[in-house]
Amino acid sequence: MVRLENVGKRYGTDAEILHDISLTLDPGGFYFLTGVSGAGKTTLLKIIYLAETPSRGLVSLFDTDVSAADRATHNALRRRIGIVFQDFRLVEHLTVRDNVALPLRIAGAAEREIRENVPELLGWMGLEDKLNYHPAQLSGGEQQRVAIARAIVRRPDLLIADEPTGNIDDEIAMLLVRIFERINRLGTTVLIATHDVAFASRFSHRHLHLDRGGLSAPKTAPGAPAAAALGGSSPSSGAANLDQDSAPRDRAEAEPEAPAGPADPPAPGDASAEAQ
Ligand SMILES: Nc1ncnc2c1ncn2[C@@H]1O[C@H](COP(=O)(O)OP(=O)(O)OP(=O)(O)O)[C@@H](O)[C@H]1O
Ligand SMILES: [Mg+2]
Repeated sequence: MVRLENVGKRYGTDAEILHDISLTLDPGGFYFLTGVSGAGKTTLLKIIYLAETPSRGLVSLFDTDVSAADRATHNALRRRIGIVFQDFRLVEHLTVRDNVALPLRIAGAAEREIRENVPELLGWMGLEDKLNYHPAQLSGGEQQRVAIARAIVRRPDLLIADEPTGNIDDEIAMLLVRIFERINRLGTTVLIATHDVAFASRFSHRHLHLDRGGLSAPKTAPGAPAAAALGGSSPSSGAANLDQDSAPRDRAEAEPEAPAGPADPPAPGDASAEAQ
């Protein structure tokens, strides 16, 4: 689904901040990307969602070599990815309902479908009573859930979330991970960046750790397999394909209260199935 081989990244003439990054994300996988602030997590995510080009190396997304692909192909690839930005990027003058409906409207979905599916999804996120609020009227955790709803409303093949659990309390952070797990069970590959290694280690999902520009597979919490997804063709990367080892789906943690709503997010119907 996502493959990076010996990717390096520098901004301008600055020193390289990512060196020889090789990784594979398998379809249906659930991954945490950890690393201290400034380690390059957002940069790596941007390379994966095609907002930054690597300075060197190969990036393959949905079996397409992105360096060889034209702009239309890039756009089509990008539409298969849902992104939760570190700074949310909600549209301030739109209501919660309209923020979440936006990707569906852009994709040309029928208003009837939007009317049915968006409130249902927001109910699933525990935001059923905030449909007509504007982002400025929401708490940080609520804004984060709106950003997540917007990212998943079209059922992306890949969900990328940049620090979705930063600056919120532990209970809400656990709830968000449970929401990501539900989405993952429905078939979306999930990649979550967080600086909070201890938090990520509470889950048995696969870990990728950025340190001094390189990627490693850290030890996870006791009982949690440290299977990572490092790989690539470079002998110098020192990381053979450990990615075949798929961690069992996390069931170990006590489930926090799920948000009110249906057991699974509603399918946005055909609106999500945009021609690629
Ligand atoms: N557009 C840019 N131009 C120049 N340098 C940049 C740019 N974006 C990021 N950097 C630098 O790259 C390094 C990694 O930044 P990045 O945002 O990827 O880190 P991060 O791991 O996401 O950090 P945080 O946890 O604080 O979000 C930082 O030193 C940053 O200053
Ligand atoms: Mg970041």
